[in-house]
Amino acid sequence: MFERLREDIACILERDPAARTRFEVLTCYPGLHALVMQRWAHACWMRGHKWAGRFISHIARFLTGVEIHPGAVIGRRVFIDHGMGVVIGETAEIGDDCTIYQGVTLGGTSLYRGTKRHPTLGKGVVVSAGAKVLGGFTVGDGARVGSNAVVLKEVPAGATVVGVPGRLVEQSLAEKEKAHFAAYGVAPNQDDPYLKTLQSLVDHAQELEQALSVLTEKMRRMEAAERSKTEQLRAIK
Ligand SMILES: CC(C)(COP(=O)(O)OP(=O)(O)OC[C@H]1O[C@@H](n2cnc3c(N)ncnc32)[C@H](O)[C@@H]1OP(=O)(O)O)[C@@H](O)C(=O)NCCC(=O)NCCS
Repeated sequence: MFERLREDIACILERDPAARTRFEVLTCYPGLHALVMQRWAHACWMRGHKWAGRFISHIARFLTGVEIHPGAVIGRRVFIDHGMGVVIGETAEIGDDCTIYQGVTLGGTSLYRGTKRHPTLGKGVVVSAGAKVLGGFTVGDGARVGSNAVVLKEVPAGATVVGVPGRLVEQSLAEKEKAHFAAYGVAPNQDDPYLKTLQSLVDHAQELEQALSVLTEKMRRMEAAERSKTEQLRAIK
C-alpha cells in the first residue's frame, strides 16, 4: 500500500511542474486522494461488498469532486490532475502511467448491464481537460486526447485526437518519415515505384494488424461478459 502511495507521489512530482514537495502532494492533491479511496472502494466491490464500495466512492466524490465507480480498474502511477469534475464509469479500465485532467468523462453510451460500456485507456494515455471519451472501445498506448474533445471510437496507439467528434490529428511528414524510417528503413516520399508499393503494403499490413488486435480484444471482452452472465445464471439457479 505504502509502496503504491510512494509511486503515486513520485509520478505527480514528475508530471506536475507546480508540485514542490512530497508532503504538499500528499496533502493537497485531490486526484491522489480520490485514487487512494478508489482502491479501498474497488477492494470492497471485488469482495462483493457492493454497497460499501459505492459508499466509499460517494464519500470520495464529496471530498474530491472526482467520481470513480468502484468497479473501474485503474493501473499504477495514474495521475488525475486537479480532479474536479472527473467521472470514470463502472467498466472503464485505465492503464499504467495515464494522465487525466479536470472535467474528463470516461463514460458510456449504452444502457445494457453486464456489457463493456466504458472505455479502456492503454498505457501512458493523456486525456486533456474537459474531454469526453464515450463507449467501450480502446484508446491505444501513448495516445493523446485534446481538451474538450468528444471521442466516440477507437484511437490508435500514439495518435492525437481533437475536436467534436474526435478526429485524428495528422502527423507531420517529418514525423511520418521518422516513424517509417525507424521501423522499416523505407522513406515514404521516395520516387522509386517499388519502394512506394512496398510502403503501401507495409501500411496496409499495419492497418490490418491494428484491426485484428481490436477484434481480438472485443472477442475477449464478449467472452468474459458471456462467462460472467453464465456464472450469474448458475448462482441464481
Ligand atoms: C491535445 C494535445 C495533447 C496535443 O498536443 P500535440 O500533439 O503537441 O499537438 P499540437 O498542440 O501541436 O496540436 C496539433 C493540432 O491539433 C489542434 N489542437 C490541439 N488541441 C486541440 C483542441 N483541444 N481542440 C481542437 N484542436 C486542437 C492544434 O491546433 C493543431 O492543429 P494544426 O495542426 O491544424 O495547427 C494538447 O494540445 C493539449 O490539448 N493539451 C492539453 C493539456 C491539458 O488539458 N492541460 C490542462 C492543464 S490544467
